[in-house]
Amino acid sequence: MKAVVLVGGEGTRLRPLTETIPKPLIPLVDRPFLEHVLDHLAAHGVGEALLSSPYLEEVFASFLQARHDGPRVTWITEPTPLGTAGAVANAAREIGEPFLVLNGDILTDLDLTGLVALHREAGAIATIALALVEDARPYGLVTVSEAGRVLEFREKPQQAIPGLVNAGTYVLEPEAVRDVPPEGAVSIEREVFPALIDSGASVHGYVSQDYWKDLGTPESYLRATFDALEGRVKGLSYAAPYVDSTARVSLRCHLGRWVVVGPAARIGDDAEVEDSVLLAGAVIGEGARVRDSIVGPSATIGRGAVLSGAVLAEGAVIPSGTSADGARVAAGKVLGA
Ligand code: GTP
Repeated sequence: MKAVVLVGGEGTRLRPLTETIPKPLIPLVDRPFLEHVLDHLAAHGVGEALLSSPYLEEVFASFLQARHDGPRVTWITEPTPLGTAGAVANAAREIGEPFLVLNGDILTDLDLTGLVALHREAGAIATIALALVEDARPYGLVTVSEAGRVLEFREKPQQAIPGLVNAGTYVLEPEAVRDVPPEGAVSIEREVFPALIDSGASVHGYVSQDYWKDLGTPESYLRATFDALEGRVKGLSYAAPYVDSTARVSLRCHLGRWVVVGPAARIGDDAEVEDSVLLAGAVIGEGARVRDSIVGPSATIGRGAVLSGAVLAEGAVIPSGTSADGARVAAGKVLGA
């Protein structure tokens, strides 16, 4: 079977980190997130993945050149954003048989083989993986009949209520996206699925207890990282904290359990890091304190600075002695300059 992996969004909620790194290429613990997605596909026997992105295409090109494991990747050019449905329809024209679709920003150990088997058994035009969440406010609820047929995609609820949500993984027959126009942005979740349901087409839900988390916001990216460190994702096993072998970490610093220290990152004496991810080459100065933050590649936190809830893009700088809560610093910029 083939799979379309959706990787072309701008990742606005993870800015400014996504100004230079597309969301699917941000590392999750030890490797770019897209590696985890492709490995998951390979584990379920997928032989070819089709990808496209109108955003930072050149960054994907170097990632793909460096990757040699399966599945084989076919890159499709997408000069202007086609939205989730447009990108899928574009790829479907090349496929011509039922195929998987995965959002490229979801950490899951979903049983893709089971999903495909249910799709075939149900004879559905589309089968949508559904996850049970405690708070459906960020997603919108999906209602399903006793027999597993999807009845409705509802608006995001106002209150924090539990329910089934679209888990961003599907099996589609090519005709599910046949009517998507070749140009202009169309959303699969907001336009195509509701239209298919209204037309009476057979759209099925696949409810599972498998691990599922989207990486769309700084908080959910950190949560997914800590879940991986905690061993909650099948197939992933790490020491916690996770410190890359090329990182240089002072023996006199304090590292909490939920911390990732990327390749060539440096942490000085008496620094404290808790519940954070330090990407490759990040520098934490002596006595600095960092909590609940994502520190981008080669970003620098000066001596004695205190940082919490921050997202720092590549090469961003926090001057020595600064205190910053919730800071967002763009690539190569200095906080406060
Ligand atoms: P936000 O801007 O923070 O909402 O993130 P996003 O741009 O990634 O959007 P969203 O999370 O809704 O996208 C879901 C998935 O679809 C992600 O894996 C995106 O990379 C992908 N995606 C979104 N829009 C497009 C598009 O126009 N083309 C392609 N190829 N993929 C897209």
